[in-house]
Amino acid sequence: MEGDNVVTFHLYRYRLLMKKPICLTGIKPTGMPHLGNYLGAIKPAISMAATGKYDCFYFIADYHSLTTIHDAKLMREYVYEVAATWLSMGLNPDQVTIYRQSDIPEIMEMNWILSCFTAKGHMNRAHAYKAIAAENTQNGRDVDQGINMGIYGYPVLMASDILFLQTNFVPVGADQLQHIEIAREIVSSFNAIYGEVLTPPEAMVQSETLVPGLDGRKMSKSYQNTIPLFLPEKKLQKLINKIKTDSLPPEAPKDPSDSLIFDLFKFFSTKAQQDDLAAWYKKGIGWGEAKAELFKVINVALTEPRAKYEELMANPALIDNILDEGAAKVRPKAAEFLKSVKVATGMSR
Ligand code: TRP
Repeated sequence: MEGDNVVTFHLYRYRLLMKKPICLTGIKPTGMPHLGNYLGAIKPAISMAATGKYDCFYFIADYHSLTTIHDAKLMREYVYEVAATWLSMGLNPDQVTIYRQSDIPEIMEMNWILSCFTAKGHMNRAHAYKAIAAENTQNGRDVDQGINMGIYGYPVLMASDILFLQTNFVPVGADQLQHIEIAREIVSSFNAIYGEVLTPPEAMVQSETLVPGLDGRKMSKSYQNTIPLFLPEKKLQKLINKIKTDSLPPEAPKDPSDSLIFDLFKFFSTKAQQDDLAAWYKKGIGWGEAKAELFKVINVALTEPRAKYEELMANPALIDNILDEGAAKVRPKAAEFLKSVKVATGMSR
């Protein structure tokens, strides 16, 4: 009986002392996000933050974009677009610390330190770099053509982003798993020498939400089949009208389970709305009518966020304020941890 009380007491104390696990992810600004980005990454990340179970940090990885975007105006635009998108789709800065990577100079110090514990061979095998090198070779070009050191060292920067905050969980798409593995390798190499200084991160792979694009393939910027989130209504309507359909006449019964329009409709509708549309399909719906229904539901979902997005984009100072506040919260933590890393390596006392 007495023993139970002791355990209860300790558990209670532990819970009081215990911090929430740290959850961090980076968002590379590469242009206005589309419906596929929203459903596959933005929406789940915002819902996860709303559970209150984690201490969440979502940052704009502008240094990662700098590996390929060498146009200052475009860079600025992309950063604002991506920040405004997350904020207008429901990210609450009181629940999530949102900041700009380049506002945290400690990440750069971390980057150098970690690069001294990163096997070059890992970089050679990192698939993003390997794919460009392979394409060069295939096309008879010099293997290194168009590859700067930023592209080559990308995984070390990503490890720095993750490790400087002692991150526990990293929500990412499956394409980023190798990078998390590399971060864990770096932790092992470092900790083997200096002790348990760095925290090994765990990937949280989001189950893939298959959002089809205008041509039926996965919605992706590289296929040019996307529906960007914040188009003026007319443009959104026009784009939806481009969705590929077959040549069945309007009165022919149609199969909702074999329809791109219906697949997209499902993401933005209730079960009752889906049943209604399915019934209309079976009775015979014109593709123009089906597209009009799809436009309606998407437009309802986006009307409010679009207004918020436009307001933010018209006042980028509002976005800067939020990002500055985020950086101000992160920098003291960064400085403190960096100090312990430097002490461990014999750089500071
Ligand atoms: N590399 C990631 C991507 O392309 C973005 C990113 C940068 C990231 N740093 C990160 C993701 C740290 C998670 C954690 O999508």
